[in-house]
Amino acid sequence: MKISVFGIGYVGLVQAAVMAEVGHDVLCMDIDAVKIAQLQRGQVRLYEPGLAELVRESLEAGRLRFTTDERAAVEHGRVAFIAVGTDSQADGSADLAGVLAVSDAIARHRRDPLVIVEKSTVPVGTGDRLQARIAKAVKDAGRSLDFEIVSNPEFLKEGSALADCRRPDRIIVGITSAHARETMRELYEPFNRNHDRMLFMDLRSAELTKYAANCMLATKISFINQMAELAEHLGADIEAVRQGIGADPRIGYHFIYPGCGYGGSCFPKDLRALIHSAGEAGCASDLLQAVEAVNARQKGKLFELVRRHFGDDLRGRTFALWGLAFKPNTDDMREAPSRDLMEALWAAGARVRAYDPEAMHEAQRLYGDDERLQLMGTPEAVLSGADALLICTEWQQFKAPDFALIARKLAAPVIIDGRNLFDPERLARYGLRYFAIGRGERLPALGSPRADSLQRTA
Ligand code: UDX
Repeated sequence: MKISVFGIGYVGLVQAAVMAEVGHDVLCMDIDAVKIAQLQRGQVRLYEPGLAELVRESLEAGRLRFTTDERAAVEHGRVAFIAVGTDSQADGSADLAGVLAVSDAIARHRRDPLVIVEKSTVPVGTGDRLQARIAKAVKDAGRSLDFEIVSNPEFLKEGSALADCRRPDRIIVGITSAHARETMRELYEPFNRNHDRMLFMDLRSAELTKYAANCMLATKISFINQMAELAEHLGADIEAVRQGIGADPRIGYHFIYPGCGYGGSCFPKDLRALIHSAGEAGCASDLLQAVEAVNARQKGKLFELVRRHFGDDLRGRTFALWGLAFKPNTDDMREAPSRDLMEALWAAGARVRAYDPEAMHEAQRLYGDDERLQLMGTPEAVLSGADALLICTEWQQFKAPDFALIARKLAAPVIIDGRNLFDPERLARYGLRYFAIGRGERLPALGSPRADSLQRTA
């Protein structure tokens, strides 16, 4: 099937590559000429396991092509995916400028029937808005166009995006006609073998499904993080509690890992957008706001632990940091907890020496000019003489380090772990002091008399 994809960011490129892989004829369009030229040469700028190879294979096979020619892209496909970014605006709402620009281009150039697929995450009601906007533009131009908007949200996870796309748990499709249903069935047929994963519904329900899924997942994370805070204060171990509740199949083990807060391109943005939509609809969003507030606090948790251990004045101190990406297997640092931590440390006068297996270029791009950050080539290199090791991302290669070496290299044997990677008892045997999220050694609260005496001696 001939398919056009507008917007070759993360979602668009992964979707395009996977559709080309099964034999569809895919033409991708983006306004970023530099990016398109690179992709035409098979260069993939973003890090996603397997993606660069897949793009190059499909390019060579001629099933995947890239262009900046809007008209050619509008004319190419029987189906057009809109996968442009919908970042948050200052008021939290999703920025639809890119989505509207693509729909205007379609109205200008398309003559043959077309199914238009919203892949970008867009506020509920956007499908109806696009339908009306294109119909009006076409009518104003004295023409007619046989088209339909379909909502088909993505559920990709960075780091496993290809697998998520090749073998989706579910394919949500919001439609208004039998023709669109048939077209979407044909398009997804290669991904829908063995058992039917396609769930058809109305447009608005499909749009809301996407937000509801991400907000539910964010809620699970903030819930467990609040429990971790309680565990810390009540003397319990959150890791035991996590397993204890996860064993109940109604709760399950997934997405209840306590940590230093969620980041990334989706959860924070989608939560803000749904809170904004709720406000516009005159509807309560108190639960969602609480999820956000807990996460904002949680992103400050590692810094709070640092202050509780070392005091407020961190001048002259250097901290070793493992993990900059917002999660493993990506180089993405958007809304990453590591950024909140580093910025807070710098503001308190400290320096940071950091290592990440993939996000070094991104860190360089964001903070390259800042002399308070030193990026090092190995996890061991950041340790020498540092006041403590701080951990923000649970990369596989951090999970079984040489603890004796860590204890030897650090100036003070302290690990503050935002991902609960280690067994507190084992670390104690190496003489390492271990502070984590809802487990490990307890530190005195800020402002308590013990904290003050510790601050003086630390
Ligand atoms: C997410 C959704 O999972 C995906 O379905 C949607 O399409 C886009 O947003 P992604 O942002 O790639 O995907 O990352 P994800 O693996 O979901 O993790 C999000 C954040 O939550 C990370 O910062 C991660 O560290 C954190 N997290 C996740 C936890 O803190 N605890 C958990 O138990 C799970």
